[in-house]
Amino acid sequence: MSKSPNILIPAMGGTALVLGLAFGISSREYGAAKIDSLETRVAQVEAHASSAGQKAKSEAARAAALEAQIAEVQAAAAANPKTLTMPAPQSDGAYGLGRSALAEEIAAWDVDVLPDGRGLPEGSGDAFDGEEVFADKCASCHGDFAEGVDNWPVLAGGFDTLADKDPVKTVGSYWPYLSTVWDYIHRSMPFGEAGTLTADETYAIVAYILYSNDLVEDDFVLSHENFAAFDMHNKGGFVVDDRPELEYASWRAEPCMSDCKGEVKVTMRSVFLVETPEVGTVSVMNHGTLDGVPSFTADGPSFIPVSTSPAPQAEPEPATQPVPKPVEAAASPGEDALVAAGEKVFKKCKACHQVGAGAKNRSGPQLNGLIGRTMGSVDGFRYSKVFAQALEEGRVWDEESLVAFLTKPKTYMKGTKMSFAGLKKDADLDAITAYLKSVGE
Ligand code: HEC
Ligand code: HEC
Repeated sequence: MSKSPNILIPAMGGTALVLGLAFGISSREYGAAKIDSLETRVAQVEAHASSAGQKAKSEAARAAALEAQIAEVQAAAAANPKTLTMPAPQSDGAYGLGRSALAEEIAAWDVDVLPDGRGLPEGSGDAFDGEEVFADKCASCHGDFAEGVDNWPVLAGGFDTLADKDPVKTVGSYWPYLSTVWDYIHRSMPFGEAGTLTADETYAIVAYILYSNDLVEDDFVLSHENFAAFDMHNKGGFVVDDRPELEYASWRAEPCMSDCKGEVKVTMRSVFLVETPEVGTVSVMNHGTLDGVPSFTADGPSFIPVSTSPAPQAEPEPATQPVPKPVEAAASPGEDALVAAGEKVFKKCKACHQVGAGAKNRSGPQLNGLIGRTMGSVDGFRYSKVFAQALEEGRVWDEESLVAFLTKPKTYMKGTKMSFAGLKKDADLDAITAYLKSVGE
């Protein structure tokens, strides 16, 4: 059948034509349409039959290949009694179960890397190659410069924030051993594709992450040979927990196990406990908003349902607010929204920059009163050469230069040590400019 479409189709068409004529002259148009649709149908049946034939053939080929594979495995199993396809022999152990693991099996599990470099496979990679692999496999979540996209983990920066209320713990600022970085990445990243990185790729990526943290130069080559000698920034920042030996004994008392407290009273509902208290300042509780439920204010529980209280109190300024509200008087509502959007964009900068009252230099300088400020002029911050030069030339930040810089930091300030890819969207650039204008001295 499959070889005769050109014969069959006219033949079927002919039949239809006869039928169409039989319906009478008045239905000639109907007959013509019917012929068309019948011809199409025949062509479809024909195509279907030929593809079914092809499918059957390829299924047969697949079955044959599988059979050959089974034979191969069986032959291999017969040739080597130690292969994993054999049932496990009984061991002589206490329970008479199982067998000793093969060296290969142990090797497959034994992938951990220790701080002194034990367990590392041979290999090497430099930050240049690492940048490429990182851009390809990691940057979609961790950012081109390891600065973290949205809420994905930040891997770079955050130095000197560890003692803060809100420390930025990154590989660079926090992790004490390089072996953890290598091991973690090799085993578990890229997220969702764990175990796909080669040893050399992993060395290169780790070198690149060190580079992103300004801990090495871009031509740094990391290998199994120089690995153990690398000291991380926060190596000395951990102590051994010796409380069990030194402290527990002095706290110890027989615990009370029954009738320990006379009366138990519910004093607060956890739904109102929305944040950790600031030491000695504003209340830990926000206002209740449910009808009939005691509400809580900065002065403590009021037990007056909020909905019936005479005048709504002003929201107390949340104590944890890191950034003061805009200082410019009477900004327009549109401007407010822009500043709010800019505060969000600033999350991308926070790993390295602070603003607001008491802002300190982190891995980047504080950014208060930036517009109108001379470039590279923050006291106590060690700028790169290009910023030192801008300072000498007396260049001043204005909106235009800020947008140009933030669009492509490394292009606008060639040689800058700001590891940030840049903001791509105009809306983000406008928003961050408005926000930085709004944060005061
Ligand atoms: C699809 C998103 C995604 C991709 C792609 C990805 N990661 Fe991650 N990464 C994560 C998430 C999520 C975590 C946090 C996992 C957790 O805490 O359990 C993480 C954690 C990490 C951490 C630990 C960070 C910390 O401080 O705890 C490192 C290091 C890391 N990733 C490196 C990499 C590297 C290198 C690559 C590329 C080879 C990569 N990641 C690719 C999502 C991703
Ligand atoms: C990974 C860390 C990092 C991130 C993220 C980062 N910066 Fe920076 N930034 C720096 C460093 C480091 C410098 C100093 C540059 C130099 O000396 O070359 C700097 C310098 C600057 C300067 C120049 C300040 C001056 O005193 O002249 C501005 C402006 C700036 N950053 C804005 C931003 C903004 C806005 C963002 C977020 C959109 C951002 N940065 C993200 C690290 C960072």
